[in-house]
Amino acid sequence: MQYRQLGATDLNVSRICFGCWQLSPAWWGAVQVEPWAAAVRAALDGGVNFIDTADAYGDGLAETELGKLLKGDGTRDRFVLATKFFWNFADGPDRFPDTTHDYILRACEASLRRLQTDHIDLYQIHAWDPLTRPDEVAAAFQQLRREGKVRWFGASNLNPEQMELYRAHFDVSCLQPPFSLLATEVAARELPYCLRHNIGVINYSSLQRGLLGGHYTAESTFVGRRADDPLFRRAGLKIVLQAVEEAKAVAAGLGLTIAELAVRWVLTHPAITSAIVGVRKAEHITGIVRAADDRLTQKTWHWLAARFRRAQAEALAASA
Ligand SMILES: NC(=O)c1ccc[n+]([C@@H]2O[C@H](COP(=O)([O-])OP(=O)(O)OC[C@H]3O[C@@H](n4cnc5c(N)ncnc54)[C@H](OP(=O)(O)O)[C@@H]3O)[C@@H](O)[C@H]2O)c1
Repeated sequence: MQYRQLGATDLNVSRICFGCWQLSPAWWGAVQVEPWAAAVRAALDGGVNFIDTADAYGDGLAETELGKLLKGDGTRDRFVLATKFFWNFADGPDRFPDTTHDYILRACEASLRRLQTDHIDLYQIHAWDPLTRPDEVAAAFQQLRREGKVRWFGASNLNPEQMELYRAHFDVSCLQPPFSLLATEVAARELPYCLRHNIGVINYSSLQRGLLGGHYTAESTFVGRRADDPLFRRAGLKIVLQAVEEAKAVAAGLGLTIAELAVRWVLTHPAITSAIVGVRKAEHITGIVRAADDRLTQKTWHWLAARFRRAQAEALAASA
């Protein structure tokens, strides 16, 4: 496993980050805790030292299970622990964005309690909140850092203008955007911005929510909200899977699975510090660690980019 410094922080993180969104029944169906726990242990054995979760994943469930596991195994200090806040779900299903000063302090306390730890290594704003002034967010962050509850701050799903607004008041050490062979929008502005300002990037949905995992067929059906995604609907799915089949041949030539190839594609981009991979069972993570061993050649990287760009356009048109 290779490691990189996360932006300008002192965090040395593995290039694969273990994603915990899969402990969210609304998106991924019933949660199987035991296989997931075995996967966390397998990740650690494979050299993964970076784990990403959020308070909103399963409305606290992901943090609670992770906290139990890390406490029980005594492995909290072997991980760089990243979590997020933003969605105020205290009143039940009608969640809403909340980055007000007092809410941040309360949300952080609740995350620390669920995670059974005294500090969070990377605390991320999950998305842009248009209603709260950046200086108010900064005041809460200063307090959390002063109290030793948070080491570094990051943000997710922001554009460069939004990062600028925050960066006038506090350090944004890391951006967490979507980026994969089937989601390349951030390559135009966000990734160059992060490179220019030495902001770490940990991209999510490296496997496009499983579509680049290589195990779905045109007959696969999806539970939860993935069923509403045009790339997962029958017409679009068929087109994407054709590109996946072609990429499998490229992967085989490199001694990789298609999932490993897709992650290596992401990691070859110079802005990417670590690729987050969503994991449900040990088999998901044991091979993926190989993706970080090497880079793709420029020729292969661009061939894959072009092939999946075409597949995405055709799939969206077919599902419209
Ligand atoms: N900040 C945000 O707004 C945001 C949004 C989304 C995600 N995230 C973070 O990023 C993480 C990853 O993104 P994601 O959840 O969208 O998922 P992803 O990594 O794109 O896809 C995960 C799915 O891919 C399949 N998979 C995983 N490893 C595999 C392997 N080695 N071979 C074949 N298939 C494999 C599994 O599908 P099956 O379960 O079907 O087998 C798994 O559930 C999340 O867990 C979360 O931490 C953040």
